[in-house]
Amino acid sequence: MKRSILITGGAGFIGSHVVRLFVNKYPEYNIINLDKLTYAGNLANLKDVENKPNYVFVKADICDFDTILSIFDKYSIDGVIHLAAESHVDRSIKDPFLFAQTNVIGTLSLLQAAKATWEKSGVETKLFYHISTDEVYGSLGSEGFFTEETPYDPHSPYSASKASSDHFVKAFHDTYGLPAVISNCSNNYGPYQFPEKLIPLFINNIRNNKPLPVYGKGENVRDWLYVIDHARAIDVIFHKGRVGETYNIGGFNEWKNIDLIKVMIKVTDRLLGRNEGASDSLITYVTDRAGHDLRYAIDSGKLKNELGWEPSLQFEEGIEKTVQWYLDNQEWLDGVTSGEYQEYYKKMYSV
Ligand code: NAD
Ligand code: TYD
Repeated sequence: MKRSILITGGAGFIGSHVVRLFVNKYPEYNIINLDKLTYAGNLANLKDVENKPNYVFVKADICDFDTILSIFDKYSIDGVIHLAAESHVDRSIKDPFLFAQTNVIGTLSLLQAAKATWEKSGVETKLFYHISTDEVYGSLGSEGFFTEETPYDPHSPYSASKASSDHFVKAFHDTYGLPAVISNCSNNYGPYQFPEKLIPLFINNIRNNKPLPVYGKGENVRDWLYVIDHARAIDVIFHKGRVGETYNIGGFNEWKNIDLIKVMIKVTDRLLGRNEGASDSLITYVTDRAGHDLRYAIDSGKLKNELGWEPSLQFEEGIEKTVQWYLDNQEWLDGVTSGEYQEYYKKMYSV
């Protein structure tokens, strides 16, 4: 079936993998990538698909309701995969207003545009798919997992803004009958991640012999999923997920930060031709992040049992591929850290 799918935040880390997967796998769909190109948006992530006939890029702000409404109309949007967001916890601690604006008001503006448009054309065959995070569930002790029934208990301004956006999506489903589905995923890693997040930041710092700032004692635990496995899960949920449901996505792959960092150092040192562990001396313990959640761990049994999704990559393979990618793409990394990419695309899209 010919579909017109609006993917928001498609120039970001996860969004670019979702856009690539959909453009290549579904030539019969029109994929409209809508992105504001904030510091985190980078069209260089999508060079390999930018000339495909089923791909369009639109530079717009999800908070600009009139523009969003006109895009729904212009492209006859019948499906939304909503990833656009401010996504970094440390930035949210510094500027919570921006997170409320983008993540809450931006999501509300998309929901309202979908509702207004689809009320006229009929909601059958339509879907609003909201991409969220496991961080909405708060923090775990040393035992247990987040399930879809775990009560929301966000601690950071980032997770509070994502929790709020999830509630708005549920409210639009329950109040107006908007066909909606939500997924909450654990920490992603892989190519094209902005080097402010742990894994690409540390690979880049090891490469440049710069300190590796470990928050607190490095004892916090995260459940890491290779980004392409997240994109595969999004594909499955978009096509087969039950409307009104939430699906948790995780890697069953928990790592204490300091253990993960030691693995990253070993792999990066080896691939750089250094002695494995030579960069251990770069580890620098720094003041802990305020409100730092101790442990996240996802039970993705529902997604596996209902829709048959499982992660495809073992962590050892994923981290090796990831480190190799950043070392092979130093131009991308240097471009992003120098801000060159934004200058280039600002000129291209005259902003
Ligand atoms: P990212 O920061 O790499 O990308 C976000 C994208 O959104 C960028 O391209 C940016 O330009 C765009 N954007 C920001 N504000 C916008 C606005 N007002 N209008 C239009 N576009 C805007 O983020 P990511 O890591 O790829 O995360 C994508 C989504 O997945 C987010 O909703 C995030 O909450 C969720 N998520 C991320 C992770 C993770 O580990 N990174 C895990 C679970 C869920
Ligand atoms: P991050 O990649 O920011 O993801 P999130 O906060 O969404 O989980 O951080 C992952 C973990 O690594 C988290 O426990 C914080 C920690 N961390 C550091 O210790 N040092 C750093 O420089 C960064 C960016 C994160």
